[in-house]
Amino acid sequence: MLQMKDAFVIQGLGGKRTLQGKISVMGAKNAALKAMAAAILFKDPLKVENVPQIEDISRLGEVLEFIGAKVEVKDRTRTITVPDGASSALPEEIAKRFRGSVVLTGPLLARFGRVTMPHPGGCVIGKRPIDIFLEGFEKMGATVTEHANEYQIDASKEGLQGVDLFLRVPSVTATETFLMAGVLANGKTTIRNVALEPEVQALAEFLNACGAKIEGIGTPTLEIEGGGLLESGGKSYITPPDRIEAGSFAILAALSGKDVEISPVVPLHIEALLETFREMNIPFELSGETLRIEDKRGGEMLPTQIKTHEYPGFPTDLQAPMTVLLTQAKGESPVFETIFEGRLNYTEELTWMGADILTLDPHRVLVRGKSALRGRKLESPDLRAGIAYVIAAISATGESVIGNAYNIDRGYERLEERLSGIGVDIKRVAE
Ligand code: EPZ
Repeated sequence: MLQMKDAFVIQGLGGKRTLQGKISVMGAKNAALKAMAAAILFKDPLKVENVPQIEDISRLGEVLEFIGAKVEVKDRTRTITVPDGASSALPEEIAKRFRGSVVLTGPLLARFGRVTMPHPGGCVIGKRPIDIFLEGFEKMGATVTEHANEYQIDASKEGLQGVDLFLRVPSVTATETFLMAGVLANGKTTIRNVALEPEVQALAEFLNACGAKIEGIGTPTLEIEGGGLLESGGKSYITPPDRIEAGSFAILAALSGKDVEISPVVPLHIEALLETFREMNIPFELSGETLRIEDKRGGEMLPTQIKTHEYPGFPTDLQAPMTVLLTQAKGESPVFETIFEGRLNYTEELTWMGADILTLDPHRVLVRGKSALRGRKLESPDLRAGIAYVIAAISATGESVIGNAYNIDRGYERLEERLSGIGVDIKRVAE
């Protein structure tokens, strides 16, 4: 049973590359969360398959049940039915704990005409504002009133109107929220400057397969013709493999792997990472959906520069694990985190492990390698910094204790079990 205050105890490999075996990739957290939220748009039950068994998925299931949905759990399948009588007041104490809850607002507002939501929680990677959501809903005819620290959004007079929206930034969850709102809004909704992440495209394609009318999938502009509730007709949403989990394990293998196979991966979804591996002289083999990384004595890992960018650029969610890898590349590697202003804070604790990282400003650091890492006691501040600390601890010399494992359990299912399977000495302890 996962406890809030669990910790991982890891014995480091002292820089040796010994990990070997196969590690499996679960369904994508950031795809499954949105598909589950989309159940609100359906008149019949929606089945979401290959769901990862992680904390954020459990929290979303709790939120859906709280508002009156029926959520049947069978292994990695969730069957969700949202009746007409469902309420649309999101429970603060759950919704605040993960950003994914924000995508419920679009479908709830479009179907029930109102939604009450707390300021969504999530990682400590930045302010995580929701101005784009609130401005967009107002443009669609809703009124937004802010109380204590919740928002009441009401469109009950004429319902949501299809409008022309331009996203100030190609926000992933804002794109998904307005895409889903547009499915039930009156008239046509155009969204410009949308996020192109694979999970956005997978959601749009599935909604179209169930009767939605969405044009422009995979382009910067989506056009949605509003209509009635969708019908799954028994079709399931199959969650694609998690590209961020696959990338995290590939980076671990590049750092500490002797011969590691990671599957299933969708090569198209991790192209930016694979291109970075080529720049760093890290050999890898792709065959079908399997990525294999061996310790070929092909010479030193080279430094490179990382600039995070919306898909298909280098994903911000892999920035922290990649920074750990760069500490072992001889030379200077600038890292430019363009998406979130708080997503380099974790590097301070990496320097306590022996990494040589110079902070240039809130968006940029300079990693100077190669530096020997030593095991430390660390607290994972968020999901991706947490996995970065795990990766650093595995490569380091000595023992590390990584607290706040809940933050890692939010996105990585049975982590200690799967890492032990390729030879990592990792244990979960109650702190
Ligand atoms: C999604 O968050 C992911 N979460 C994040 O993954 C991921 O890091 C992020 O996209 C970027 O790829 C989920 O899908 C649940 P954004 P999201 O809106 O949609 C600013 C993980 O580890 N912004 O694309 O919240 C925002 O501050 C998580 O799995 C506004 O200014 O990210 C950021 O600077 C972490 N106003 C930028 O946009 C708004 O109203 C991009 O954020 C909304 C966003």
